Amino acid sequence: MSYTTDHSKKTIAILEGVGLNGYSQKVNRQFAADVYAGLTAKEKSLPSKYLYNKRGDEIFQQIMDMEEYYPTRAEYEIFEMHRHEMLKYFSQDSIPFRLIEFGAGDGTKTKVLLRHFLEQQADFSYVPIDISTNIIEELTTDLAEKMPDLKVQGIQDDYFRAIDRLKSSFNGQQVRNVVLFLGANIGNFSNSESITFLKEIATHLSPGDLLMTGFDLKKNPERILTAYFDKPGVTKAFKHNLLLRINEELKADFNIDNFQYFPIYDPMEGSIRSYLVSKKEQQVTISAIDEVVEFEAWEAIYMERSQKYSLNDIEGLAQHSGFSVMHHFYDSQKLFTDSLWQLD
Ligand code: AVJ
Repeated sequence: MSYTTDHSKKTIAILEGVGLNGYSQKVNRQFAADVYAGLTAKEKSLPSKYLYNKRGDEIFQQIMDMEEYYPTRAEYEIFEMHRHEMLKYFSQDSIPFRLIEFGAGDGTKTKVLLRHFLEQQADFSYVPIDISTNIIEELTTDLAEKMPDLKVQGIQDDYFRAIDRLKSSFNGQQVRNVVLFLGANIGNFSNSESITFLKEIATHLSPGDLLMTGFDLKKNPERILTAYFDKPGVTKAFKHNLLLRINEELKADFNIDNFQYFPIYDPMEGSIRSYLVSKKEQQVTISAIDEVVEFEAWEAIYMERSQKYSLNDIEGLAQHSGFSVMHHFYDSQKLFTDSLWQLD
């Protein structure tokens, strides 16, 4: 049998749970199938969305707290500086609005806006959406305590299914949807993936609805690289954590000391690509999927992309996905922008 047939058969078996070596009950099958596909490909890779388990969330929090990682503070400053103006755009024509946040996390930055909108007695509700039940529960409990007057409807679901659920709960009252996709998360997508994603958002909204997306801007390449190549090694630990997650969830035996963290920034492409590179020839056994992965010396695993944008890049994305740019909000150093678009 050819390699590809064999390979896709095993992927299907894993997804169905029969290719899981006695662990079928406990293993996240999609995770197992994605790890299998990524590590048996000619060019090895692991999907960056799996970086965010409990430990990964904690390490990402540390990344956001460190000096080198400027995007978080820049976006925080944007919210502090421009919350008045944002409210004017969101509440134009005095239509009530619904702030729908994709991947809400702990909402630290968004709270700056929420608090201001409440103070201004704006007519709005907040709909945080996250795939993690944990995050939605913690956030809604926290908000109920800190902002008892806020109307919150947390939804634990896939982004688009969540928007559809909102539509079906529509009560006939006119409301403007304002979707927030913050924190440079869009940078994990390639350009064509971004357009697909943005177009998909558009199909779930109505003309006049708004979308505000965080974009990390192109800047001095040294500054960008340093944000992903910090001296203390926090970002390295973030990437190593995915190997540890595979060890734990799929009974593998990765030794993280044998994998060097190496990010590069290509100023023409505008993207950080980060790798874990095998320091030597080695084999890693992944028991749950009955697989031994062979690494040549200095073979790389592609771990994550973080795209950086020019204004032109951003305007091109808006155009290609059916939105018009209303306003770019900047921090004082123009490191980052929250770009507000309206659906045509
Ligand atoms: C959460 C995707 C915005 O790419 O900047 C930070 C993740 N990775 N440091 C980013 C990340 C390494 C982050 N995003």
